[in-house]
Amino acid sequence: MTTPWHNPLRDKRDKRMPRIAGPCGVVIFGVTGDLARKKLMPAIYDLANRGLLPPSFALVGFARRDWADEDFGQVVYEAVQQHARTPFRQEVWDRLAEGFRFVQGTFDDDAAFERLAETLNKLDAERGTGGNHAFYLSIPPKAFPVVCEQLHKSGLARQQEDRWSRVVIEKPFGHDLASARELNAVVNSVFPEESVFRIDHYLGKETVQNILALRFANELYEPIWNAHYVDHVQITMAEDIGLGGRAGYYDGIGAARDVIQNHLIQLLALTAMEEPVSFGPHELQAEKIKVLSATRPLQPLNLTSARGQYSAGWQGNEKVPGLLDEGGFSPESTTETFAAITLEVDTRRWAGVPFFLRTGKRLPRRVTEVALVFKRAPHLPFDSTMTEELGKNALVLRIQPDEGITMRFGSKVPGSAMEVRDVNMDFSYGSAFAEDSPEAYERLILDVLLGEPSLFPVNAEVELSWKILDPVLDAWAGQGRPEPYESGTWGPPSAFEMVHRLDREWRRP
Ligand code: BG6
Repeated sequence: MTTPWHNPLRDKRDKRMPRIAGPCGVVIFGVTGDLARKKLMPAIYDLANRGLLPPSFALVGFARRDWADEDFGQVVYEAVQQHARTPFRQEVWDRLAEGFRFVQGTFDDDAAFERLAETLNKLDAERGTGGNHAFYLSIPPKAFPVVCEQLHKSGLARQQEDRWSRVVIEKPFGHDLASARELNAVVNSVFPEESVFRIDHYLGKETVQNILALRFANELYEPIWNAHYVDHVQITMAEDIGLGGRAGYYDGIGAARDVIQNHLIQLLALTAMEEPVSFGPHELQAEKIKVLSATRPLQPLNLTSARGQYSAGWQGNEKVPGLLDEGGFSPESTTETFAAITLEVDTRRWAGVPFFLRTGKRLPRRVTEVALVFKRAPHLPFDSTMTEELGKNALVLRIQPDEGITMRFGSKVPGSAMEVRDVNMDFSYGSAFAEDSPEAYERLILDVLLGEPSLFPVNAEVELSWKILDPVLDAWAGQGRPEPYESGTWGPPSAFEMVHRLDREWRRP
């Protein structure tokens, strides 16, 4: 029997060959936003440049601006010139640009959605897009209900045998469990779950997918990937940038909702889950759901979590202002720009192993990593003065920017009697592979067009992530302004106290 997720013909395909999307059109709502300009439009061009889009491809922008198709084309052109990953090739651009259309309107304007439907019908006829459409909602979530409703009313969300209609949504998927459920209900009332693609762009990163390759393609790591050997896990996503210009989105959201609820909890799920039966989307999701169901914050929350807000300081050689001096934030803003939490995973594999997650803006450098820190050897047959500088072994998955893996272990110092000190053994993508990694958005947009759901969190994962985070957010609510930390430092003192209490140390990536 053939099920949608087990197609024997598809399985016979050589998986090393790139798959090319079939005829289709992408409609971007929120075309004037930062994400569309910096990520989506460049990714579409890069896909075209890599030969992964079909000749029958169309890109439609929908916005309030009074633009003609050419004006929209110019906006895409500038975005591609500034942000595309691959070199500009005129012939690729010319072919792609023939499929650009713009529809002017607001989300509550029925006539605009009728015009959108007409435009798409015309493209189907003229460009052969085959009635297959992806609707990319790069808009604030409060606008999701009205846009979904309009897509429903205009018939564009209708699921038919010979064509597809998919919706792509960007986080935040709600601001707590209750609102995420409401949002999911609204989206699912128009689009069935298999047509909903929720973007967590971390899952599109090569290094994040490599967590599964490292764990399940090798015999070396899995035997020690558990509480018998691992002392604790640290997941760090540090950024050196501040929030200038993003107050509209960020104020009231904060670091935990912005990246812990999605990116960091997904990293935890991939690190902690059991081996899936296969890499089919349902099998993968089942394991992620299982491990997330067993994950909860360590109590008491006031001692196992920390939040901070950056104040003025130095970022490298540059003097930078504090959050409250950056335009757009209210002087009383209690939004955290740093968050750290401690989670436990109640499974046989992980019981007793703390998972420390931290993220922050205006930290000393941009780095994302997952570090498994191992227990000390039960016995060291050395004179203690010979191992004074020896730390714990660590396996560090360097997600970005210096993509690779580091193994940290003790080694004899040459020449001395038997002095042991930590050394690093490095694997680096840059030197091991000739190919550059595609941008996460290239991979994810292509997967939407191919209908490949593996890298998109499903409803249940989103709700479970909120279930994990909600108690922490509740404990923080009403605590007033987060603890200040100087820009260019590794966060507030409470973040260090949080790990010291459990007799651990943060790594300095
Ligand atoms: C986004 C967050 O999801 O990820 C931003 O909203 C953050 O606040 C960004 O800056 C970081 O992405 P990356 O891929 O640069 O680590």
